[in-house]
Amino acid sequence: MKILICGDVVGKAGRRVVCDALPTLRRELDLDFIVVNGENAAGGFGITPKICDQFFDVGADVITTGNHAWDQKDIIPHFDREKRLLRPHNYPEGTPGTGAAIFPDHQGRKVLVLHFMGRLFMPSLDDPFAGVEMALLNRHLGSDIAAIILDFHGEATSEKLAIAHMLDGRISAVVGTHTHVPTADAQVLPGGTGYISDIGMCGDYNSVIGMKKEASIERFRKKLPGPRLEAAEGEATLCAGFIE
Ligand code: FE2
Repeated sequence: MKILICGDVVGKAGRRVVCDALPTLRRELDLDFIVVNGENAAGGFGITPKICDQFFDVGADVITTGNHAWDQKDIIPHFDREKRLLRPHNYPEGTPGTGAAIFPDHQGRKVLVLHFMGRLFMPSLDDPFAGVEMALLNRHLGSDIAAIILDFHGEATSEKLAIAHMLDGRISAVVGTHTHVPTADAQVLPGGTGYISDIGMCGDYNSVIGMKKEASIERFRKKLPGPRLEAAEGEATLCAGFIE
């Protein structure tokens, strides 16, 4: 099975590169399943129902999110309506949506997509290590489930590596998102699980993690409420993890 998972899509530039490239990538890489992390797709902050539809129209099978899941108010009820839209699973009980669900790939095989958020330098959510174990109860890779992938949305590489090693051999791949900076540590762990700390973003890299440089620099230099951050709109690069 061939799976592509696109890193955080940032703003219009990121949407454009994903919408332009996905149909071709699907064909050329013979993809069976596509995940898009869309949490920064709406101007850098969240995602809207309309943007979700655009990603599904060009071939996304599942959209994951992260700490910006709730930035656009009209998306909140959409998490209960649109089952292909996931939020981190370790939000409190009662939060709309889910972060663990099974989807069919293009040949009808079952893919379990897990989506959790780290807690180091991130909002304090429920324990993702215990949460992922709960989500994997009675789920066995290679029995009725053909692939299990985890989009682990977090800041710290240590936390991402720790959860990946904990799951090594039990799931197909752990793919890090959130930092918008691709890491050079793609590897297959000893037990067979694919891993990368961060797949980077789909967005304009002539920027500060996808946002216009000037406002970002101002905010770091002055400890006052800075100018509004806006998504950079130059030519975007698509960064993604390809798992076979
Ligand atoms: Fe994030």
